[in-house]
Amino acid sequence: MKKISAAKSERLQVRALAARALAPVLAGKESLSDTLPAALAAASVQDRGLLQALAFTACRYALFYRALMKPLLQKSPPPIVEALLLIGLAQVRDLRIPDHAALSETVDAARELGQDRVTGLINAILRRYLREKDLLEAQAAYALHSHPDWLKIALEKDWGREKAAALMLANNQEGPLTLRINTRQGSRESYLEKLRAEEITAAPCVFSAVGLRVRDVSDVRTLPDFSHGAASVQDEAAQLSAPLLDAKAGMRVLDACAAPGGKTAHILEATPDLVLTALDISPERCLRVEENLQRLQLQDTDRVKVLAADAAATNAWWDGKPFDRILLDAPCTATGVIRRHPDIKLLRRQSDVAATVTLQAALLDALWPLLAPGGVLLYATCSLLKAENEEQIAAFLKKTGSARELAISAEWGEVRPQGRQLFTGDTDGFYYARLIKTAD
Ligand SMILES: C[S@@+](CC[C@H](N)C(=O)[O-])C[C@H]1O[C@@H](n2cnc3c(N)ncnc32)[C@H](O)[C@@H]1O
Repeated sequence: MKKISAAKSERLQVRALAARALAPVLAGKESLSDTLPAALAAASVQDRGLLQALAFTACRYALFYRALMKPLLQKSPPPIVEALLLIGLAQVRDLRIPDHAALSETVDAARELGQDRVTGLINAILRRYLREKDLLEAQAAYALHSHPDWLKIALEKDWGREKAAALMLANNQEGPLTLRINTRQGSRESYLEKLRAEEITAAPCVFSAVGLRVRDVSDVRTLPDFSHGAASVQDEAAQLSAPLLDAKAGMRVLDACAAPGGKTAHILEATPDLVLTALDISPERCLRVEENLQRLQLQDTDRVKVLAADAAATNAWWDGKPFDRILLDAPCTATGVIRRHPDIKLLRRQSDVAATVTLQAALLDALWPLLAPGGVLLYATCSLLKAENEEQIAAFLKKTGSARELAISAEWGEVRPQGRQLFTGDTDGFYYARLIKTAD
């Protein structure tokens, strides 16, 4: 058996781990959020950044890499082999890893995964890419956006070709690391001072009064007082929900699709003395809400209830007392957060859009009767598709006599016939609409 040095075996490990995390995603069976945590836990601390970069880059450009390799492969390889090939291309094309190291270590990773039969194939494909790069890149240029056809077409239909191209480009950039400061524990300015004292580069967000953009932090747990709840990771677009909901002390608030609890926590940070119910259909994800509230020291068991339930099946969980505010952060296609979850491009199907639109409409219909007259429902998605956003709200307003839209006047995003749309770029892609119940 070939003997490898300790250092080399550690680097080999990381490529094998990345391929193993990627294969179920390529097979359409699991998301990177399902598979990556175990891989990261198995990797050495020094390797975690590379592991993450390999998995994310391979997902981000998987559809383009497939187009690159198409002339070189006679048939589609099984997921684990394809994962190794994508990781190989990610290294030589986008991660600036020297060619010889990328090739030999990807081949060694194949061996480590028991794929000895395909080491020749992997070696040959990567070498041919390096030799015929210009021609192969030109042939595959049509797929450079690396989005599935159905999504490209949907974005073009909604926003036109030019904007769709810009959105796809933005989806392929890494999003910034953005923090929400827990103002129950201190001001944004005082946290900024703490970061500066530790020589961490940070700057205030423009649209969120509690947001900070931070640079060059690989593990947020090392940030000042993070484990005691001084800050949370949350994109600036998501930080706009609590101010828009505008809950006041004493109000009854429902967060209908709450897990993992980012917006629930922000609502509680912004306004003490609320009576809040945080609901999510997934019991496992409800545990995440509880963990987050605990870390942020927001668990007030008398006033904050976390419930695992189907928000649409209101008979099963509603006590009959109306809510003054409802946040419906609806399940959606997540097309606005592709830059943070590039595996969405591999996992989402065109048929998911219609199913998601139906689910969102059912949630809106079921939750509306729970709102007190004069109460406000904030509808939010992290989608870029009109069907889930302005068209959804237009249809709801048309059929719901007691619903009226409250315009959102803001510096961010773009005003739409209903609601406001944020496009992926400075923030994640997001949509908000505010609806008030008339007192009839
Ligand atoms: C966009 S995520 C919510 C993110 C969350 N609001 C936050 O800021 O952290 C949508 C959530 O809706 C939940 N969900 C899906 N269908 C649901 C239903 N019928 N009832 C309640 N929750 C549901 C999913 O489990 C998922 O956690």
